[in-house]
Amino acid sequence: MTVHFIGAGPGAPDLITLRGRDLIARCPVCLYAGSLVNPAILGHCPPGARIVDTAPMSLDEIVAEFERAHSAGQDVARLHSGDLSVWSALGEQVRRLEALGIPYTVTPGVPAFAAAAAALGRELTLPEVGQSVVLTRTSGRASAMPPGERLDAFARTGATLAIHLSIHALDRVVAELLPHYGPDCPVAIVYRASWPDERIVAGTLATIVAAVAAAPIERTALILVGSVLATDDFRDSALYDAGYQRRFRGRTER
Ligand SMILES: C[S@@+](CC[C@H](N)C(=O)[O-])C[C@H]1O[C@@H](n2cnc3c(N)ncnc32)[C@H](O)[C@@H]1O
Repeated sequence: MTVHFIGAGPGAPDLITLRGRDLIARCPVCLYAGSLVNPAILGHCPPGARIVDTAPMSLDEIVAEFERAHSAGQDVARLHSGDLSVWSALGEQVRRLEALGIPYTVTPGVPAFAAAAAALGRELTLPEVGQSVVLTRTSGRASAMPPGERLDAFARTGATLAIHLSIHALDRVVAELLPHYGPDCPVAIVYRASWPDERIVAGTLATIVAAVAAAPIERTALILVGSVLATDDFRDSALYDAGYQRRFRGRTER
């Protein structure tokens, strides 16, 4: 028996890996984080599967489900939104499974920041404009930021920011970023990227608060900040530069 953690992607039910889909299809138990995972993905569960929404459950109750399936010799598909490497509660579940001696696997998924960039039709790294993307959040009721990971510390680097779990604090985010990025810095808010009701609000640090206030967004949105969002003024990358001697250039590449 194995618990298979699967990144269920940002929302659209076809934005899941083939491996993830196939695992879901052969697990008789599926636990899913119902607040963000699209229920349409549950259509891959086999007939008669035990399907449990873990949104209202405690960690102890979730672990009890793992233990019950373990005793019954039933594999579990454990779905979380996006990818499991960020803000998925994978760490605390894996720690419990290891203590219990229950095996697990991890299958990655499409993270929200990638779906948001796709919705914008933008690359988040451009030559000599932005070469780093910081995936971060602001402190909330449930979790404080570690010392040194404050937004203004990242802002000092000028990197492109993908700020999660913070749309409710947009005015505070803007106030912290303004001194570093300036009022003309592009900002894009992507609400529910890849869902049918996806919405994009684009502006600058000077305009975005008013733009969002016109049609408020309360949750499930990413705040993307940085020059890469709006500039066409960047040089081509070396990758396809005819004069650049690439290691494999000249070989037949597969
Ligand atoms: C608990 S975190 C989950 C992150 C997820 N594990 C990932 O890989 O993106 C939830 C936050 O991710 C962002 N998010 C998740 N899904 C999103 C989507 N479809 N569109 C925009 N932002 C999303 C929002 O900032 C939301 O508050």
